[in-house]
Amino acid sequence: MVLAIQAKNLKIGYMDEEEQITWATRGVDLSVEEGESFCIVGESGCGKSTLASAIAGVLPPHALTMGKLYIFNQLVINESERNYNGIRGKVVSLIPQNPGTSLNPFLTIGDHFYYILRDVKGLSKSDSIKIAQEYLSKVGLGKDVLEKYPHKLSGGMQQRVLIAIALASEVKIIVADEPTSSIDANLRAQILNLLSKLVKEFKVTLLLVTHDLASASKICDRIAVMYAGKVIETGLTSSIISKPRHPYTRMLLDSVPLLGSKKSLNPLPGEPPSLVEDFTWCSFRDRCPFRIEQCSVEPPLIPVEDEPHLVRCWRFREVS
Ligand SMILES: Nc1ncnc2c1ncn2[C@@H]1O[C@H](COP(=O)(O)OP(=O)(O)O)[C@@H](O)[C@H]1O
Ligand code: SF4
Ligand SMILES: [Mg+2]
Repeated sequence: MVLAIQAKNLKIGYMDEEEQITWATRGVDLSVEEGESFCIVGESGCGKSTLASAIAGVLPPHALTMGKLYIFNQLVINESERNYNGIRGKVVSLIPQNPGTSLNPFLTIGDHFYYILRDVKGLSKSDSIKIAQEYLSKVGLGKDVLEKYPHKLSGGMQQRVLIAIALASEVKIIVADEPTSSIDANLRAQILNLLSKLVKEFKVTLLLVTHDLASASKICDRIAVMYAGKVIETGLTSSIISKPRHPYTRMLLDSVPLLGSKKSLNPLPGEPPSLVEDFTWCSFRDRCPFRIEQCSVEPPLIPVEDEPHLVRCWRFREVS
């Protein structure tokens, strides 16, 4: 078994002008195997994009890091040191939320392919255009797109172009951060299905970030649910969906229309804790109907018997 991604107690923070640090991830432990499709799920603000940016090597320079992150056994984050040489754009590529922001408005799509394939694989212009045509057809686009500027394409077409560029670069990991949230609802499932089909065809590892458990459940082999900067439950998709153990995962499942069955929106009241101050209690305690004295200590990720399923809740046996 080859690990594509391994995070060990990864903490990532941002310091503001008053020198207060928001710890967007407070100690993430995560392993993703080569060729897996793995989803990170959670509400807005729980640290998904920060984790995705760290894996893709695009954290802003002012981000503070602690812990370790390995990409195919190469240590890219070693406490405060970061080194993505040979990794960023070559081994791992990011498909962002808004494709418009990562395509250069002054370059045609053909030139995007050329500059990237020249840098990553040393290809000539004519060779890069041949490869571009091949991969554009994989994502259902014709060669006419090569002459166009990004603003002439719809959001869905731009996202297809980015998928084609990532695949043409022959990266081993694609990190897709809410790749369909800026796209028309009708096209969302199409793009996700396409991405899912192509990563399997090309044996690429997919890390998909989404707040939508329904999409995650259709595409991913495994899921990690994040809450307040930590993974609070992780396991096989089937196990998370059919037998969620953490009260927060159950709340997420209860509040989304899943696999055709429309359930009513039923969120538990309350907010996640502030990520500026350090805390030692279970991060879900203030919203949790099952809290007891013991919950004033944050639980570790506890193995659920006989399953590759971990849950950060003292009472998962009683409440699930
Ligand atoms: N570039 C940044 N600079 C400062 N704070 C940030 C930055 N990116 C994210 N944050 C903060 O980190 C926390 C987690 O954000 P983010 O990783 O974007 O979560 P998510 O993707 O789950 O919504 C939030 O409090 C957010 O305000
Ligand atoms: S540890 Fe306690 S407060 Fe946290 S989710 Fe479990 S029961 Fe609720
Ligand atoms: Mg985000």
